[in-house]
Amino acid sequence: MSTFKAPKGTYDLIPPYSAKYLAVRDAISAPLRKAGYGYIETPGFEDVNLFARGVGESTDIVTKEMFTLTTKGGTNLALRPEGTASVLRAALEASLHKKGNLPVKLWYSGSYYRYERPQAGRYRHFSQVGAEAIGAEDPALDAELIILADQAYRTLGLRDFRILLNSLGDKECRPVYREALQAFLRGLDLDEETVRRAEINPLRVLDDKRAEVQKQLVGAPMLRDYLCDACKAYHEEVRALITAAGVAFEDDEKLVRGLDYYTRTTFEFVHGGLGSQSAVGGGGRYDGLSEMIGGPALPSVGWALGVDRTVLALEAEGVELDIPAATSVFAVALGEAKPVLFGLVTELRKAGVAADISYGGKGLKGAMKDANRSGARFAVIAGDRDLAEGVVQLKDMESGEQSAVALAEVVEVLRAKLA
Ligand code: HAM
Repeated sequence: MSTFKAPKGTYDLIPPYSAKYLAVRDAISAPLRKAGYGYIETPGFEDVNLFARGVGESTDIVTKEMFTLTTKGGTNLALRPEGTASVLRAALEASLHKKGNLPVKLWYSGSYYRYERPQAGRYRHFSQVGAEAIGAEDPALDAELIILADQAYRTLGLRDFRILLNSLGDKECRPVYREALQAFLRGLDLDEETVRRAEINPLRVLDDKRAEVQKQLVGAPMLRDYLCDACKAYHEEVRALITAAGVAFEDDEKLVRGLDYYTRTTFEFVHGGLGSQSAVGGGGRYDGLSEMIGGPALPSVGWALGVDRTVLALEAEGVELDIPAATSVFAVALGEAKPVLFGLVTELRKAGVAADISYGGKGLKGAMKDANRSGARFAVIAGDRDLAEGVVQLKDMESGEQSAVALAEVVEVLRAKLA
């Protein structure tokens, strides 16, 4: 072991376990790629103010959880705690909204950083696959994203998840509700920090998990009763479209997300097998974010699914992903056969066959152990006598059958057998 360990709240992904993460990222992004979303990659850090303004000055993410640093040149940066603000910043910087049809549909996959108290399912470094549809106000877009996430989870084999749906209103109706809620909260017996939160972001108080707070919230004004007609109609359309697609959801009027940019549609995917960190993904509409970071009005919607928690959810359900072995053919070279088999492996790889060879001058027993461990379907074994006869031994690792094949034909034979 080295003197060093992965930093607190982080962990390494090691093969073969790491293959699960690749498979999950692939399964989440596949439906997006087929629905017109283009891949975007942004830097791992941004101007700290992008998140302060975008995610919200009063959110836990900005006040407590950002990894910040000052460069030698004096610029204040933050490791990205989430992807939406960065993706919108990049889209605006590249004027994507002026170049083609709206919405601009983008997907991404990467690492995110939050200085949180680590526990199962909550890390300081985690990974998300996300999607953002920028520049259109259309309930079908909100519905599309929810349906695509549902599809991704179902393709992976996940069953025990629920979709919680809410509308947070817009700039017309939310301020009216906010005032009504604040007036209600001022009449309660709350601790100092919660009183402060009630003044800055009263909706977050509804999300307080403590029983003594929840008890007092009975009878609080609900946003549903304050939604303006436009928001109500929009929400009903989203609900109708998801229902028509056969995707089950639950209305959750208490769903408040931990980021301030949301308007109207908000949703969360929660899983029953994860304990307190039950959200495997979440998202919603953020019609005002572009203006908050200095851009034009660009109503948008998106989500991010947590890869770490999705893997945990799959494990909680006992779902085994169908991950093909990394190697199809494993070469075992004996005597002076190494250069020839090394050449054969190179040729196989060029022909698109996943191939590997035993290294380090092992004997037959050790090299066959490597072949077994690799999960390869076939082993190609050759020693001096085989090469003198112009053949290699081809062993079917499943049936154990072995036969001689002409060296000149082995690439074609293997390609045909593996097709
Ligand atoms: P979020 O709800 O903060 O939303 O994060 C999305 C998902 O990332 C969570 O549901 C969870 O699975 C995962 N996640 C968040 N924090 C952690 C952590 N500390 N450890 C492990 N997993 C974590 C957003 O990030 C928004 N940008 C989503 C969005 C996109 N909204 C609109 N577009």
